[in-house]
Amino acid sequence: MQDFSGKVALITGGASGIGRSLAFALGAKGARIVVGDVDSNAMQQIEADLASENIDARVVRCDVTSEESLTAAADAATEAFGGIDLVFANAGIGAGESGALWDYSDKDWRWCLDVNLWGVINSIKVFMPRLIARADKTHFVVTGSSNGAFVILPDAPIYTASKAAVHAITENLHYQVTAGGLQVVVSALFPGPHVVDTGLFNSGRVRPEELKKEVEGNESGINSVDDMKRMAAEWGIELETTHPDEVAAMAIAGLEKDAFWLLETTPDTDDKIRRRAAMILERSTPVPEMVGA
Ligand SMILES: NC(=O)c1ccc[n+]([C@@H]2O[C@H](COP(=O)([O-])OP(=O)(O)OC[C@H]3O[C@@H](n4cnc5c(N)ncnc54)[C@H](O)[C@@H]3O)[C@@H](O)[C@H]2O)c1
Repeated sequence: MQDFSGKVALITGGASGIGRSLAFALGAKGARIVVGDVDSNAMQQIEADLASENIDARVVRCDVTSEESLTAAADAATEAFGGIDLVFANAGIGAGESGALWDYSDKDWRWCLDVNLWGVINSIKVFMPRLIARADKTHFVVTGSSNGAFVILPDAPIYTASKAAVHAITENLHYQVTAGGLQVVVSALFPGPHVVDTGLFNSGRVRPEELKKEVEGNESGINSVDDMKRMAAEWGIELETTHPDEVAAMAIAGLEKDAFWLLETTPDTDDKIRRRAAMILERSTPVPEMVGA
């Protein structure tokens, strides 16, 4: 899609981080924006901020774990703007997991898979038929993670599992759409190239009451990108970060070319991918990779 002017973009998890940056970047290109989220404070904030930039937008409460909630958001978008041209299945959380897998709380598993995996599955069910029914080219963009899709970083097995599954689904969706000759372009967005400075490490702020644990905050002790930087420094690693606006710009540049891979890597990430491929081909025993190392 070359021209976003007048197009309608619906972004799940759009009130913060990468979704928020996408909303402003697409809005600046003349798109009309629908932000779906569950964080009331962030929703109020982005509604005011988008209005102050004169971006035509609607901010709706939309919980991606619920098909009904996504359907209501799709209906609201259609009522406001006549249809949807681009969907960003972007909502995601980090469960703050740590410790031994066999001691993990079912609540961590359930919450992370509900949002990261079922959020994408539900979004495909609700939005794909609507995108297919449009007369012109449409886009369905899934936010994945290289942690899961390409490499298995240690100590976040739930998140990694969710993103591995999400990538398998996204690639399959692309194959099906292509085989069907449909006019929907499917893309896989990988935020980066470094850890992106967003609210992901403080996802507990939107954790549902029934899935809360006894422990406040993340058991991992990482509740922000700054915590991550501190922990990396203890390992002797200087953690670089990426601003979410850079991710939005990279995504839009890829969408302009109808690219499947919305992906920017560092030489370090490329090395990790090469080592992983070599490990499989050579049947060598896996050794853990480090974040940003
Ligand atoms: N930050 C990174 O370095 C990074 C790296 C790879 C992938 N990602 C992915 O990017 C996506 C966006 O995350 P972010 O980093 O911008 O974090 P973020 O926390 O700033 O934004 C995520 C948004 O999702 C919303 N959300 C959470 N649960 C929801 C639900 N049930 N329904 C609807 N919205 C919900 C949150 O309220 C928040 O506004 C996620 O899928 C994440 O896994 C992030």
